[in-house]
Amino acid sequence: MNVLVFASRKGGSGKSTLAAHLAAHAHKPSRTLLLVDADPQGSLTLWHRRRASDGLQLRAAQRGIVDIAKAAKRNGFEWVFVDTAPNMSASVADAIRAATLVIIPCRPGVFDLDAVKETVDFAREARKPYAVVINAAPPRRQDVESPSVIFARETLAGLHIPVWGGQITQRTNFSQALAQGEGAKEYDRDSYAAAEIARLWAAIEKSVKAIHGARDGTAMHRVAA
Ligand SMILES: Nc1ncnc2c1ncn2[C@@H]1O[C@H](COP(=O)(O)OP(=O)(O)O)[C@@H](O)[C@H]1O
Ligand SMILES: [Mg+2]
Repeated sequence: MNVLVFASRKGGSGKSTLAAHLAAHAHKPSRTLLLVDADPQGSLTLWHRRRASDGLQLRAAQRGIVDIAKAAKRNGFEWVFVDTAPNMSASVADAIRAATLVIIPCRPGVFDLDAVKETVDFAREARKPYAVVINAAPPRRQDVESPSVIFARETLAGLHIPVWGGQITQRTNFSQALAQGEGAKEYDRDSYAAAEIARLWAAIEKSVKAIHGARDGTAMHRVAA
């Protein structure tokens, strides 16, 4: 079983957005997933309430994430996704300690990049693999990344912070889908939004396989990826 933790002390970076879209994408009857809403603001819980029941389970809990993960493993869950609060509280520290991989969403902006460092430092101390995901980015033009994304990559590379090679673009589909309790694919199967989430999920699966030593080569939590 794997625990994916979405963390960043910056509010609005996209923790809840990515947790919800990835959960809707990854959850299947044959691959059960437990969502844990560890943010007292409860964004993920709101989304989950709006959702037509498809067996995707959610627990709201700010402490005891390690025990929740252990119980999930005993109950046969394959994945636990933990959405955390925008701070570095004991609850977030708890979640990171339980993580297989920490996903740090980051908007391409100077203040957002600065906020990443604190979460990275904690993940490093806890010896947990982590990767930044650039979120709410301006669209690529003729397949070229926007200057702000290029700047973000350069800054992160300078700090030896691994970052996913793709991007999640700022798209109304992402917020509109969430308002209806859906993921990008459920909202519009053929959208760019759905394709971006599918690509991010593939990178996460690849990374987790590499963490378990099942595959060599590039993985997004490695700086050289
Ligand atoms: N890629 C995106 N495209 C459009 N809106 C986004 C995107 N990512 C986040 N948002 C919007 O930005 C706001 C903050 O995102 P959220 O996921 O709640 O951040 P966090 O959980 O890190 O505080 C939400 O209203 C969300 O709908
Ligand atoms: Mg949130």
